[in-house]
Amino acid sequence: MENNTEKHGVDLSLIPSHIAVIMDGNGRWAKKRGMERVHGHNEGVVSAREIIEASVELGVRYVTLYVFSKENWNRPEFEVNCLMALLVSTILKEIDSLMEKKIRVLPIGEINDLPDDARESLKEVVAKTSGNKGLTLMLAISYSGREEIISAVNKILSSGKRTVSEDDFGTYLYAGGIPDPELLIRTGGEMRISNFLLWQTAYTEFYSTDVFWPDFRKKDFYNAIIDYQNRERRFGKISEQLEEEK
Ligand code: IPE
Ligand code: IPE
Ligand code: MG
Repeated sequence: MENNTEKHGVDLSLIPSHIAVIMDGNGRWAKKRGMERVHGHNEGVVSAREIIEASVELGVRYVTLYVFSKENWNRPEFEVNCLMALLVSTILKEIDSLMEKKIRVLPIGEINDLPDDARESLKEVVAKTSGNKGLTLMLAISYSGREEIISAVNKILSSGKRTVSEDDFGTYLYAGGIPDPELLIRTGGEMRISNFLLWQTAYTEFYSTDVFWPDFRKKDFYNAIIDYQNRERRFGKISEQLEEEK
């Protein structure tokens, strides 16, 4: 059924405002096909494009993609170099389409740790898309949740403040002022957070699928959202209270 309240089985009145994605399983996807791991990363770009497109279509306001963790620097040099090169080529290739879709790109992570060309192309896409009012696409690159928290603490200390509220604290994170994700999707079947958005996921609904990231398509994304829409978010309360509040 396609009408104003539903699209692809997704209830349009219950769209999460922020969806975060741990795009995992690229290496295993490639290995299964007897290919080098980097082919999995290349194919993963197609999945990212699909999910961004689907998010725009559904009216999701914020999407955070885990592109490269701080821990990923410990991978073999060849793989790290390929990932950095892929980042640069993807940004350059996608810039026009991002403008067309009115997407604003915001990086989160230790961007200064990136090689010059990756940092420069990231800066370029951020500057070019900064006025866009559509979807905000956050790219977690050289990202560590613990490091984000510690860097917030250090910013607070150097501002001279002695106490902060939870809301205040949030403004010191890499992308201060962005609402917490309601839904976190992890592909590739693992059941761990891998140092992603530790502060922001305090009450996020977690969805894990065995589908490897390069196979993840719009249909899988809709399924994750539909699953989320069937959850009861209790925030510590009991079901009966939620019924009364309706
Ligand atoms: C996720 O896929 C991509 C990055 C971490 C950059 P992986 O490369 O971790 O793929 P698996 O988990 O080894 O299959
Ligand atoms: C998490 O995936 C990081 C990204 C998807 C960018 P990993 O494959 O690096 O996670 P672990 O090491 O298996 O936990
Ligand atoms: Mg992995």
